[in-house]
Amino acid sequence: MNESVIKFEQFHQLQEDLCQQKIIDAKKKLKDDLVILGHHYQNESVYRHADFTGDSLKLAQYTQELEAKYIIFLGVHFMAEVSNILSRKDQVTILPDLSAGCQMADMADLQKVKRSYRELNKVLNFDQQITPITYINSAADLKAFCGDHDGIVCTSTNAPKILEWAFKQKEKVLFFPDQNLGRWTGHKMGIKLEQMVVWDPDLPSGGLSKEQIEQSKILLWKGHCAVHQMFRLEHIKKFREEYPGGFVISHPESPFEVCLNSDLVGSTEFILNTIKKAEPGTKWLVGTELNLVNRLANEMIKEDKMVKFMSHIICECSTMARIDPQHLSWVLDNLVNHKIVNEIVVPPTIAQSAKVALDRMLTVV
Ligand code: 13P
Ligand code: SF4
Repeated sequence: MNESVIKFEQFHQLQEDLCQQKIIDAKKKLKDDLVILGHHYQNESVYRHADFTGDSLKLAQYTQELEAKYIIFLGVHFMAEVSNILSRKDQVTILPDLSAGCQMADMADLQKVKRSYRELNKVLNFDQQITPITYINSAADLKAFCGDHDGIVCTSTNAPKILEWAFKQKEKVLFFPDQNLGRWTGHKMGIKLEQMVVWDPDLPSGGLSKEQIEQSKILLWKGHCAVHQMFRLEHIKKFREEYPGGFVISHPESPFEVCLNSDLVGSTEFILNTIKKAEPGTKWLVGTELNLVNRLANEMIKEDKMVKFMSHIICECSTMARIDPQHLSWVLDNLVNHKIVNEIVVPPTIAQSAKVALDRMLTVV
């Protein structure tokens, strides 16, 4: 089948307005056979074509309910994997550009997680006192590992509830790959910073002493999102000086001191809803990805609300940005011609165990 697919080279140089028209036409032809899901970090040039938009949790929940034969995911690889795992077997999930990954998700891999879990249990005398929690920003085999080891998945929306669940099961948590989300969520639950130690998977015993491991509640994987690391306390201070009545809202992937000095912290969906519901005339500094902030800023001008991006450096998520109108019109043109390109298929054994961890999460929230 692949021999007869339409090649991307034909779309690579296609002008934006032509791509836009092709996308509209293809959607009309495919009708109910197609649904397009879009994450809030997607560029406006493709986001506008999404039938449903959301944060990682909302999009995962949608994929369980969709009837369409084809699901095109405007997002990154782990999101499309979740869609494949949670959707029906006869549905097809497509990621328009296969190189749209997540740099943070790549900071943890199965080999390192397995080794870390083994080492931790050894220090703790194989008491199996640790629940592995993977942030949804992770490869499917890590979700499968959690499914197989009484663990669970969390998102930026439900991390507090998932940690609460985990502490009802066991004493400690191994949280990967985002240390910032783990630390912030633990802090909000009242866990002391000394009890949340960073586990460096590249060092023996994570670089920690036996005592540190024994006294810890959360072992935070040494991983982070480079996009959110751009946000700094100085940005908040400057904003507060300029706009004393303004509000600061951040994503929990931001550094701890940024979250600590924000008025509100939450997922992309939370950020959007909060600012949309806010009083006219309010001013907001937002610590999350640029595409979301720009779109929101443009929308909110009409309501006399000011929305400012937190960093002075332009930092968009470069992998999210790989989904462009050229790639979207290419996969759609193939579908119109009964060809499937860029299908995301998680191997069945991995999918089965990953689904256990995802289903646990979806039952808790
Ligand atoms: P949300 O689930 O809040 O949309 O976050 C996903 C993500 O990748 C943030 O960087
Ligand atoms: Fe991954 Fe960061 Fe991009 Fe989110 S913003 S998809 S965590 S690299």
